[in-house]
Amino acid sequence: MKTNGNHNNKHALAFIIFGGTGDLTHRKLLPALYHLVAEEQLPKEARFLAIGRRGLSGEEYRAQAYESIKEHSRTKVDEGHLTRFLNQVQYHQMEFISEPSSYLGFKQRLEGLEGEFTLPPVRLFFLAVAPEHFSPIVTHLHENQLVQRGNPDHRVMIEKPFGSDLASARMLNATLSTALIEHQVYRIDHYLGKEMIRNILALRFGNTLFEPLWNHHYIDNIQITAAEDIGVAGRGAYYEQSGILKDMLQNHLLQMLALITMEPPADLMPESIRDEKVKALRALRRYEPIGACEGIALGQYGAGQIKGKPVPAYREEENVNPRSLTPTFIALRVRVDNFRFGGVPIYIRAGKRMDKRRTQIVIEFKRLPGINFYEEFKIQPPNLLVISVQPDEGMYIQINAKRPGNEFVVDQVEMNYAQSSRFEGNVPEAYEQLILEAFRANSSLFTRWDELEQSWKFVESVEKICTPTADSYPNYAAGTCGPKRADRLLMEDGRAWHEIDLSRTNPTG
Ligand code: BG6
Repeated sequence: MKTNGNHNNKHALAFIIFGGTGDLTHRKLLPALYHLVAEEQLPKEARFLAIGRRGLSGEEYRAQAYESIKEHSRTKVDEGHLTRFLNQVQYHQMEFISEPSSYLGFKQRLEGLEGEFTLPPVRLFFLAVAPEHFSPIVTHLHENQLVQRGNPDHRVMIEKPFGSDLASARMLNATLSTALIEHQVYRIDHYLGKEMIRNILALRFGNTLFEPLWNHHYIDNIQITAAEDIGVAGRGAYYEQSGILKDMLQNHLLQMLALITMEPPADLMPESIRDEKVKALRALRRYEPIGACEGIALGQYGAGQIKGKPVPAYREEENVNPRSLTPTFIALRVRVDNFRFGGVPIYIRAGKRMDKRRTQIVIEFKRLPGINFYEEFKIQPPNLLVISVQPDEGMYIQINAKRPGNEFVVDQVEMNYAQSSRFEGNVPEAYEQLILEAFRANSSLFTRWDELEQSWKFVESVEKICTPTADSYPNYAAGTCGPKRADRLLMEDGRAWHEIDLSRTNPTG
């Protein structure tokens, strides 16, 4: 993906985090910034200003940041780099919602800090706050000219969720649009920063091998799985509102789907890529309000075991209604009605408290036509291309080859590229890539408004046709592959979910 030149030499960076004392900042943002500074990916003239409501001195904040980075860094921390990074970190206390006048003091502080730069700064605001604070913060930033509408060097990164339904997403977008133009808004979907998801473009458009086959003539079906073994991890109140549809489907899963099904973009510039993604999302067939939950399996976990330890049911989690009807699992058969993928079923599945964590995309190619004189080939399994996003990063191609020996017996073999073992420790975390690309003004890793709008429309069509009743849940035990209905969904089509464990295959890459 192309970016607009090397910003490192041309710009300084003022990186401001709203929600500087929060969990996301401590677990993800500070370690990501530390790595970017340690690896000299950001300009030397960079300052990081964490904003929070808590009364902390700069020293106290840096001491907390030191601990969090040590705990959450993906590599062993280098004390020298860490000290250099922390010297660039400042803390500013303000009541950013209840006291609009506090933006005046903040402005002075920011301008003072930028006054020390010799290069013109990029001002990057990261909103790591509760979603209801997005609109007021952006409005205050605009009113105080901390962001100027249309100024490409003033950018705002916004965490998910972007709205809680189509109407609220539209409202939020309308507010943002009065303060910023689309190019200044970087809506985060952290899956777009994951290595193997960024790799989809390279795989599809950088190989003669795949592009000619990437259509309904050769692909039988596509399976996208995002399984987690964790539960709602202390976020019961949030999850009750979102459920699996808004937490995973509306964003991460549909983004993966768009990258897999989109047409080749005219070039690799951000808008060309996003233009094609939005077309694919527009071609995603909405569910018609007929046939109750046809093609969809929803689930909610009951008590069970994860790695041999008992875990409670969703309804027993903190801040969850004991009669909750919130789904924690979804499997669905979708269709992308365009010339490339018309008629190809795409199965999507995501869930909490499943047997193990894995995110993978499986492309199942069509079987050989039944050629009479090729008896040996008739029972062979189909070719598969597997893109493993996590926990093992890599690709895997399943082909059929002759087993060594005198007899002509055909066997299934794998060609396996295990990226994680080849580049161990060097693979940056999603947030590192996202922050860096936002600084480089590469918006291809962020969701454009029209993509979001299409995603919400699709999710609402799912919600309209599926109404769980009191006795629908729980319908799968924690530590399993989800409800039986998810398997039946594929069985009805004469297919089954592929369960590929990349860690068990031998890397040859
Ligand atoms: C987040 C969801 O967006 O993605 C979480 O809110 C989920 O519920 C997480 O656990 C999964 O992300 P990852 O990177 O662990 O696959």
